[in-house]
Amino acid sequence: MNKILAPSILSADFAHLARDVEAVTKAGAQYLHIDVMDGIFVPSISIGFPVIESLRRVSDAVFDVHLMVTDPLRYIDRFADAGADIITFHQEACFDCDLVIDRIRKRGKKCGMTIRPHTGIEALFPYLDRLDMVLLMSVEPGFGGQSYIPSSTEKIRAMRKALDERGFPETDLEVDGGIKTGNLKEVLSAGANVIVAGSAVFGEDPAKKTGEFLEIMNG
Ligand code: DX5
Ligand code: ZN
Repeated sequence: MNKILAPSILSADFAHLARDVEAVTKAGAQYLHIDVMDGIFVPSISIGFPVIESLRRVSDAVFDVHLMVTDPLRYIDRFADAGADIITFHQEACFDCDLVIDRIRKRGKKCGMTIRPHTGIEALFPYLDRLDMVLLMSVEPGFGGQSYIPSSTEKIRAMRKALDERGFPETDLEVDGGIKTGNLKEVLSAGANVIVAGSAVFGEDPAKKTGEFLEIMNG
């Protein structure tokens, strides 16, 4: 499968966002992972529509928007209008996940669904036929810079197996949280093909770090 790097701008320098985005994109990152937090589903508040709209004007990257937001149905149209290409929402956050999927697809956007580390992968099974991407959280959502939860590797393997066995071998499997150059191979070989990395990419020299990630991913 196509391997894709999705740097998470949560760890970028928000005072120089366009510069940081350009650095990772020029270095070859295909996606930009944009974490939206509402202060309810997760304790923190991050960024919203105006920032995405502004970035859309300066970037052609694929905007991979991760909604950590309660009742995401309320906001799908707004994120589609703001420039999202992929919209991923939490199974735990919606009242009727089918409605959320329908709304995303109706807007012609790619649809992703995700679960917290302690939610079993079975929670996603009813929806697989309508998902372009499954996102597994390998840290508790809410903050960048946390450590990768080791049991995530087994969960990735089980999810990849479930996708293959249930007839969805083309569905992207994204993993988010605590991924560094040191554990990247483990995550990839378990079956992930879309890699989110925040602090590991933006912590120091984003262009150089992007290059290091891509070398391992394509090596
Ligand atoms: C956490 C976010 C992540 C975060 C990852 O809630 O969903 O995307 O930015 O950051 P790192 O790579 O530093 O764990
Ligand atoms: Zn994320």
